[in-house]
Amino acid sequence: MTQHSKLRDRIDAGTYVDQQEMFAHLSKTAALGEADRTAISAKAAQLVRDIRGHSNPGLMEVFLAEYGLSTDEGVALMCLAEALLRVPDADTIDALIEDKIAPSDWGKHLGRSSSSLVNASTWALMLTGRVLDEDRSPVGALRGAIKRLGEPVIRTAVSRAMKEMGRQFVLGENIESAMKRAAGMEAKGYTYSYDMLGEAARTEADAARYHLAYSKAISAIAAGCTDTDIRKNPGISIKLSALHPRYELAQETRVMEELVPRIKALALLAKSAKMGLNIDAEEADRLSLSLEVIEEVVSDPSLAGWDGFGVVVQAYGPRTGLALDAIYQMAEKYDRRFMVRLVKGAYWDTEIKLAQVEGVDGFPVFTNKALTDVSYIANARKLLQMTDRIYPQFATHNAHTVSAILHMAEDAEAYEFQRLHGMGETLHNMVLDQNQTRCRIYAPVGAHSDLLAYLVRRLLENGANSSFVNQIVDEEVAPEVVAADPFVEAADCANKIPTGPELYAPERPNSKGFDLGHAPTLSRIEQARAPWHNHSWHAAPLIAGESAPEAPEDVINPSDLTLVGQVSPASAADVEQALAAAKPWGAPAAERAAALNKAADLYEENFGELFAILAREAG
Ligand code: FAD
Ligand code: 2OP
Repeated sequence: MTQHSKLRDRIDAGTYVDQQEMFAHLSKTAALGEADRTAISAKAAQLVRDIRGHSNPGLMEVFLAEYGLSTDEGVALMCLAEALLRVPDADTIDALIEDKIAPSDWGKHLGRSSSSLVNASTWALMLTGRVLDEDRSPVGALRGAIKRLGEPVIRTAVSRAMKEMGRQFVLGENIESAMKRAAGMEAKGYTYSYDMLGEAARTEADAARYHLAYSKAISAIAAGCTDTDIRKNPGISIKLSALHPRYELAQETRVMEELVPRIKALALLAKSAKMGLNIDAEEADRLSLSLEVIEEVVSDPSLAGWDGFGVVVQAYGPRTGLALDAIYQMAEKYDRRFMVRLVKGAYWDTEIKLAQVEGVDGFPVFTNKALTDVSYIANARKLLQMTDRIYPQFATHNAHTVSAILHMAEDAEAYEFQRLHGMGETLHNMVLDQNQTRCRIYAPVGAHSDLLAYLVRRLLENGANSSFVNQIVDEEVAPEVVAADPFVEAADCANKIPTGPELYAPERPNSKGFDLGHAPTLSRIEQARAPWHNHSWHAAPLIAGESAPEAPEDVINPSDLTLVGQVSPASAADVEQALAAAKPWGAPAAERAAALNKAADLYEENFGELFAILAREAG
């Protein structure tokens, strides 16, 4: 076994850990004394004051401050944004708008925002809500008429509002218009990493389309790569899920055979263009597979001498340090220099929900926001010690996180900051001016129909009131609170979110689940199935009394035509007998519940055998 695959095993094994232990480990890595932490928070609080003193906070920040996830209206808007852009027909759009807009209390938001645009939106939403919320009085009838006349108008207005929100995050609908729009910020000293919207390909045709879109974009961006220093040129960010419809652990062989050549082709193009090409980080269950893919790509000798290969690492999970070690080891092994963008992670809500739905006993991401901040700082420290092989790219909009990096980094030349288009503009303008650091903007490019997933991630992450963007616009939160030391808060970080098995506690334990993107879980399932690989079962009717079934029939595994077992179907006499004996189950509720629970427990205990039958019978 190579050194890398041992590390990969550790990465797989480190998915679910104790947060409190992780905090102790991360604090040690960060190595920040009390004086350092006080200085970092003080500088961050000053940045917060300066940002607030700035006359022009971003539209999105102001919008989310009024409609965060803590209000019903905010939640309604998120739902609407999530669904509206992909609803194809007018009737469904109208029904959706009515469902989401009418029941909310928009009036209470009126005039509260400092932005006239947000107030105007509130007016629009309130009027829409009133029109839709008709009653049966004469006035209600009148409103009904307006509603009928007005549906197309309402639909257009709401769709426009949502598109406006999307425009906030998208630099251009195609790469040419995006590059044109980027020129303004480039003149101020920013560089760009373009992201062609599109992810989670469902079909091979989708994947091919995204591959071509990336290739075309690289060719277009090449025109802007005029510097001999690759760090100063624009770059591209790609998502592996866009390039393969089955980018998942269970399809590892296919992924290595089909996805790797696509990335190599893009990487070679980027190399020729003297451009950085960055692999975005996606869901946690892809981490280990992505490292496997990345190693296969970078080991190609034709990529030697190119310093532009980039990898994103997320700090909101416990495996950040291990992933950084793996990337550093690859750089050493193949004698390369890589770019590493450190982010906190954009899939937090998804990870929590998926783990709960799957019934997994734990989460692959931290459940304490301050612990994520601590992890970011600790891993930034680690990256700053790897600069002989790694060019760190610190992507954050949080003034405290920025302040910590400025405090820890000794050489402004050795790294860069990054922000998302439409976010953190004031903070990064100030930091750029004051510290002579570099900053790159991640800029989504594409049609609104491809924006959905990205937009929802931005709305969810910024709508949460623990987020920096949300707090900065809320003047009631003091700068010292916004810039509070996360090491203090994370000291008590035991998990407080119910895990899958705890979801219905104390009433009852939830059913057990499996994380099928987790290699150790897959081995556990495989082990439990192994004794049943060649077993032959015999199924027959189970009725009250003696059965006399039909002759047994073979059950064949359709994939390899081997025998799974035999089934003896119930005979007509068996059915008669079963029906005659059937009667209501008269046992007390507790006894019936105990029997059902016992059956459920037996299913769980015998999962190996059951999975084996299901898989073999289905082929
Ligand atoms: P903060 O407000 O300080 O942090 C918010 C983050 O904290 C959340 O996004 C989440 O990660 C974390 N968090 C929130 N609640 C909790 C909780 N209860 N427990 C634990 N953690 C919590 N993300 C990716 O996943 N992949 C990418 O490839 C990627 N590329 C990016 C590129 C750039 C240039 C930038 C700026 C961001 C990128 N991101 C990416 C998004 C990034 O993950 C989010 O912007 C970032 O999480 C927001 O962090 P912040 O420091 O700006 O804000
Ligand atoms: C996302 O797509 C920015 O990569 C990050 O959410």
